[in-house]
Amino acid sequence: MRLGVDFGTTTTTVAVADRGNYPAVSFIDHNGDAQDDIPSVVGWSNSALVFGFDALRAMDEDEAPLIRSIKRLLSDSSMTPRSTFRLAQRDISIMDALVGFLEYVAFKVRTDSSLAQIPQSEPLEAAIGIPAHASSAQRFLTLEAFRAAGWSVISMVNEPSAAGFEYTHRHRGTLNSKRTSILVYDLGGGTFDASTVTAVDTDHQVLASRGHTMLGGDDFDLVLAQCFAKAGDIPLNSFAESEWQDLVEQSRTVKESLTAHTRVVSAVVHDRPVSLPVSTFYEAATPLVEKTLEVLSPLLQRTEDGALALPPECAGIYVTGGASSLPLVSRILRERFGRRVHRSPHAAASTAIGLAIAADPDAGFTLHDRLARHVGVFREAESGSLVSFDTLLSPNLQIESNKETTITRQYRAAHNIGFYRFVEFTQTDHVGTPLGDVTPLGEILFPFAPALQEPDISLANIHIARTGNGPLIEERYHVDRHGIVTVEICDLDTGYSLTSALTSGA
Ligand SMILES: Nc1ncnc2c1ncn2[C@@H]1O[C@H](COP(=O)(O)OP(=O)(O)OP(=O)(O)O)[C@@H](O)[C@H]1O
Ligand SMILES: [Mg+2]
Repeated sequence: MRLGVDFGTTTTTVAVADRGNYPAVSFIDHNGDAQDDIPSVVGWSNSALVFGFDALRAMDEDEAPLIRSIKRLLSDSSMTPRSTFRLAQRDISIMDALVGFLEYVAFKVRTDSSLAQIPQSEPLEAAIGIPAHASSAQRFLTLEAFRAAGWSVISMVNEPSAAGFEYTHRHRGTLNSKRTSILVYDLGGGTFDASTVTAVDTDHQVLASRGHTMLGGDDFDLVLAQCFAKAGDIPLNSFAESEWQDLVEQSRTVKESLTAHTRVVSAVVHDRPVSLPVSTFYEAATPLVEKTLEVLSPLLQRTEDGALALPPECAGIYVTGGASSLPLVSRILRERFGRRVHRSPHAAASTAIGLAIAADPDAGFTLHDRLARHVGVFREAESGSLVSFDTLLSPNLQIESNKETTITRQYRAAHNIGFYRFVEFTQTDHVGTPLGDVTPLGEILFPFAPALQEPDISLANIHIARTGNGPLIEERYHVDRHGIVTVEICDLDTGYSLTSALTSGA
């Protein structure tokens, strides 16, 4: 069985490849109703982790504690396979929760979905999604968790690229020699991603990609909850944690029910009904939508009068992701881009559908994606007293969906030991120094002096000293088809080498 699995921050959506069709799979929830997705939640009940609908049932029936948005924990730059989170006054391994959740999704797909029962003997082969801006560590941990949960992962595809597949599959005719690309705008529960995708027949290329790993529907819920608190004249610091959670949940429900005609919204705050004009919420939430436009602005073109607009070769902006259902989002996008805004008819499922297309060899869709991040290295220079910085991989590096991309560098070593500190980042300043979201990717100490190239020598205690003209060193950076970077450092004179996957503390 070939599937597309979009493990989202708020919901997990699955689509199936079925003889050239890619329907979304529905699941039976705890009330016996069919749902288009599985909530990405983990709870604690009867001394065990519970997942998805079971976690919601435990919350409804026993007020069991629950954590939403587990995927957001993965995008934390300090995340390692040993990281934990707090639930029910316990430290829970993020990896255990993730593997348990993905096992639960597999179980639901096999036994409790719109698909016929799938026996254990039949593998669940899946293309899985990942935010375009996910770090190497997030990619690695996501892949490991799917595998540990019994999935057979065919490929990991950037979420907006998958939505681009869904667009070109659905609207084959709209891309032509004049309109060659589409700008995918994916506002999910926890992340925002935008990519410009071109397609010639079934051959797709991502021209550029921008995104934010901490901007999504969850943030709109918080803004609305704050508006309700303010309207009720209730200071934020007077809320107990559970009261605040309850208000955020109410806000999410209210937000999801908004239509273009809604005028007033209401909630119960501290046992009192509170109402406010929806325009108050929209005003407070406008900066979030503006932020998405700022993030995608490098994908736009400046017109003669200085305004930013879609490039003429772009067929339009393809709006997907559940959070883009908010009427405010459509309104602002239409104000900015007019009639070139196309909303996906399956906003919440388009990534999963695109992933199912990616999983289907008969669809013949190919993808040349881009690395959406920079990878760089701080190196010790001048006897350890100075540190130099080099960008090794840049966001425009093209990644093939079926093979590894390798970048090499060669130089003569000038020290007895090389001290490399790798980082991943999304922005640089004008001289190329990492800015903003910088994630450490691990450190390597490499012995340049041949006498130190012995396995039992601990380099950490040896003083780094300048030695002059040392051995010829080659650094090789391999970016695999999932976007995970591995570094190999090799002394070409002696053949000594070290290899390390750059996946943070992983
Ligand atoms: N009708 C609606 N109006 C407004 N927001 C909505 C609506 N339906 C869903 N949402 C919001 O969409 C978000 C979930 O979107 P989606 O399912 O695309 O995200 P995800 O895939 O789980 O997350 P991500 O892609 O960020 O990992 C939630 O914040 C949810 O409240
Ligand atoms: Mg999503």
